[in-house]
Amino acid sequence: MAGSRQKSWQARFSQAADKLTEGFVESLSFDRRLWKYDIAGSIAHAEMLAEVGLIGKADCAKVRRGLTAIGEEIVAGRFKWDAACEDIHMAIEAALIERIGEPGKRLHTARSRNDQVALDLRLYTRDAIDLDVCPLLRDLQAALLASAEKYADAIMPAYTHMQRAQPVTVGAYLLAYVEEFHRDRQRFADARKRVNVCPLGSGALAGSTLPIDRQAVARKLGFAEVSRNSIDGTGDRDFITEFLAAAAICAGHLSRLAEDWILYASTEFQFIRIADAFCTGSSMMPQKRNPDVLELVRGKTGRVFGALVGMMTLTKGLPQAYNRDLQEDKIHLFSGHDTLRDSLRIAAAVVRNTTFNIDRLRVATQFGFLDATVLAEYLVGKQVPFRQAHQIVGRLVAACEKAGCELRDLKLAAFQAACDRIERDVYDYLGAGNVVARYRSEGSGGPRATRKQIEYWKRILDVKD
Ligand code: ARG
Repeated sequence: MAGSRQKSWQARFSQAADKLTEGFVESLSFDRRLWKYDIAGSIAHAEMLAEVGLIGKADCAKVRRGLTAIGEEIVAGRFKWDAACEDIHMAIEAALIERIGEPGKRLHTARSRNDQVALDLRLYTRDAIDLDVCPLLRDLQAALLASAEKYADAIMPAYTHMQRAQPVTVGAYLLAYVEEFHRDRQRFADARKRVNVCPLGSGALAGSTLPIDRQAVARKLGFAEVSRNSIDGTGDRDFITEFLAAAAICAGHLSRLAEDWILYASTEFQFIRIADAFCTGSSMMPQKRNPDVLELVRGKTGRVFGALVGMMTLTKGLPQAYNRDLQEDKIHLFSGHDTLRDSLRIAAAVVRNTTFNIDRLRVATQFGFLDATVLAEYLVGKQVPFRQAHQIVGRLVAACEKAGCELRDLKLAAFQAACDRIERDVYDYLGAGNVVARYRSEGSGGPRATRKQIEYWKRILDVKD
């Protein structure tokens, strides 16, 4: 035997696995982080086996005690991982048999590692959604919301094509991200419905001739239902792909926020200041204060996208039911999960430790013709068709550019030469402050709509005043 322990599937082999084979096929080095779910699944399975009379009650109690003790040892760091074991399922089963003997050998009744690993992965992914991703997304939303409230009335230039477009409140700008992250939460919550299906009892792929009670196992583990088809039950990894797709979209959102703020923190913009604790310096340039945290949030998106593409490549063209290729699913799942979790956590901290430079933002709104659209809308109010209004204002902007001034600097005569409908009240529409105060459409970038959205999000996120 090449390994220190006889493998559970060894009986029909006349040669021991080559060392190279052993090293190549093992997954214990990375799937051991499924231990908690493997133990929970095995305990539920053993209880069910006892309930339907496939194992004795006393054996079941021994299995439960043995597995619980193994779990405690793993938590305490005392568990001796046997490198000769192929994967987490074999490592725990072998340790159980070593401890309690024969009752341990009954545990794998009506079970295959194929449905076992599918179960472990579903339990893992459910926890990743419930305990990490969704709470962290909510926390990030809460951080953005608190900042939005603080800057509900502050104005800033908003950009399209990265060119100054129209003024908005800083609050409205921040709430745009709250929307994005909310859709992420919804996507994870929706994916969870398809995660929360119990595959155990599907066996290797065809189920079992033994009278197992799949519903009982599902109930014990908090699943909403059992998988309908045993072949699909063992071969399906869509739930991982969906999790990673939601993760990839979310990482994309994080990278947009990161990109904005990297720009906004630059000397060119000076819109925000990220606290020192979330910046790093340069080894050569003493003056530098770099937004490395956000750059890495942006950069780590590659890992999450990579995990999704890796997972899709892994399952593409795979023959029906279980194939060993699927062992690699964990690499992608863990990588996508870890990366997204870390990025979400630090993004919330950066949001909480970033201040907006209100004065600088106000000054920025005074240049770049941010009130041009509102001037066109003013003309619509004076019965000028919008297309014509657009041209009139376009010509006025060109004149201002030539003169090196803003629209509000033009004399009334100049306005009236461009369009005789323009009256003195035009000055009440010009300038960013006037503009934002006049936004009236639902969901617009003005302070009233901002406050309304803030109230909405406080209710949805259950944020107390
Ligand atoms: N380590 C394997 C995996 O992660 C467990 C299932 C192995 N099944 C098998 N028939 N070899 O996919």
